Amino acid sequence: MCGIIGYIGYREAVKIILDGLECLEYRGYDSTGLAAIENGKLLYRKNVGRLSVLKDSIDKDPITANIGIGHNRWATHGKPSDINAHPHLSSDGLISVIHNGIIENYLELKAALEAKGVEFVSETDTEVVAHLIREKYKGDLLSAVSEALSEIRGAYALCVLCESEPGRIIAAKLASPLIIGFGDAENFVASDSTALAAHTRRICNLNDRVIADVTAESVHLYDLDLKPLELVEEHIPDEWTQEAVALGEYSHFMLKEIHEQPQAIRNAAMGKLGSKDGSVAFDGFSFTKEEYKKLKRIDIVACGTAYFAGVFGKYLIEKHLRIPVEACIASEFRYKNPIVGEGSLVIAISQSGETMDTLESLKLAKARGAKTLAITNVLGSQIDRAADYRIYTMAGPEIAVASTKAYSTQVEILYLLALYFGSLSESMPAESVEALTNAAMQAPDAVSYVLGQEKAIEQATEEIFKSSRMFFIGRGADYCASLEGALKLKEISYIHAEAYPSGELKHGPIALIEEGTPIVALATQPELYDKALSNIKEVKARGAKVLLIARDSAAYIAREADISIMIGEMEDDAAILPAVCVMQLLSYYTALKLGRDVDKPRNLAKSVTVE
Ligand code: M6R
Repeated sequence: MCGIIGYIGYREAVKIILDGLECLEYRGYDSTGLAAIENGKLLYRKNVGRLSVLKDSIDKDPITANIGIGHNRWATHGKPSDINAHPHLSSDGLISVIHNGIIENYLELKAALEAKGVEFVSETDTEVVAHLIREKYKGDLLSAVSEALSEIRGAYALCVLCESEPGRIIAAKLASPLIIGFGDAENFVASDSTALAAHTRRICNLNDRVIADVTAESVHLYDLDLKPLELVEEHIPDEWTQEAVALGEYSHFMLKEIHEQPQAIRNAAMGKLGSKDGSVAFDGFSFTKEEYKKLKRIDIVACGTAYFAGVFGKYLIEKHLRIPVEACIASEFRYKNPIVGEGSLVIAISQSGETMDTLESLKLAKARGAKTLAITNVLGSQIDRAADYRIYTMAGPEIAVASTKAYSTQVEILYLLALYFGSLSESMPAESVEALTNAAMQAPDAVSYVLGQEKAIEQATEEIFKSSRMFFIGRGADYCASLEGALKLKEISYIHAEAYPSGELKHGPIALIEEGTPIVALATQPELYDKALSNIKEVKARGAKVLLIARDSAAYIAREADISIMIGEMEDDAAILPAVCVMQLLSYYTALKLGRDVDKPRNLAKSVTVE
């Protein structure tokens, strides 16, 4: 959600900024822009729509500069438009600002500035920042930014340029992500490391309430009162390479990432799952048996796909460990006065590690005395840094807005976590240890098997997805999988898809079924096969067209379905990943046929860094 890139050094800033904005496109945006200082003159370009429009305008009227800032905007305050796009400038054009986040008291600040005669041109909250910094400016941009921030409430990742100080970018961060990249005689600012991987591996993840004074030769950090802070250098992880963020032979990142799943799952388990006996060790998480004994409950907090991984985590841990687990949507958790404190473990699952509601839920739980564990894909992300403990999913960069390999690696980590808890509890039955170990080890091949049926899955979309609405149904683990299947379909194809526990259909939604209504039904859990069969008959009797996703052992159910995709045989707990993989491919090919923008579906952002 919004992407920021800043450059200062000896190279062509505009080229670096445009390339960086392209790398950040995946975060989601509706308008784009940049500002740069050319021969002492602050120039800017911005437009609603795609980056290609900005590139064209720069081609027609180039800017030559060694310092600049660029921004992809995902609209919050004010519709997507040329004027609302960033950068925003002070009325005299001296100060230029780009911003990710929300300035909560912007109306109050705006009124005060208007009373002093400042004229606003946009509907954004960000514009107040430019005017406020200008009001405070008396020859030192760093002091002006610090003074302005003392009046601002809300969330921000900011980059500021000043025409009369062409040798520095001032950046600041609170709640929204921002990192500094270090080069030789050049430095960078960015929302995340995808924009920097081509230039440097040396970075610093800024903490909250930090201001950075960035020149070509130096980076100095300060707190909001301009007290100097220590700068800790970190590194972009090895798997975050330029190739990993490039499409390669694939037509879409989503398809590439679906195909990367077997390897990503292996990477997730590597170095954690010891051997076939199910021994597990994590670098960033360990509990003593005593600590585990004191554990009264586990809450999993997350959003979207990560939440659905959490729903499966609840199913899995309760099934094998018999301890109470709740999976909570993070935006609900933080406002429901949750029952957490000593004796609770709160697990935040987040691919990006930046989702605002998940981050705030974790902080709330920590403040109330709960232990907190982050399961995340991004080292150094805010959720990673805020948690007491951490486990990395090692999926590598996920660029498509629709999560695929992030989900499967999260599920893999949940197998391992359940095994780890089992080793602490000393009472997990041997069958559970075996089942979870098998699931963790079989998952990559089980997904590969389904990828081998891609053609058949693509063809299945011809038959089934002709409706503007549909259902995904299943029980137990199959319900967990169907939640993710329905989300995948709706977010990239815009077909209204709902997941329902099969047994709930009769309590209302069955009224929506008529001749031809498509239903994806799952049957991967042998003890529930007969129930699945009854539900399929029930919906068929009302005219539904059923696409069945089932284990080979459920072949007798397949006879009742219109189309079947059989996923092979595996441990019960391992079936969720191949089943979800089928639904990822169904969604992908449906969206493709409908001509959707698969990797960048409308209205969505990859990383939701505002509430
Ligand atoms: O980065 P996170 O895992 O915290 O993101 C949470 C959701 O926004 C995310 O899972 C979203 O639902 C998916 N991109 C949908 O495919």
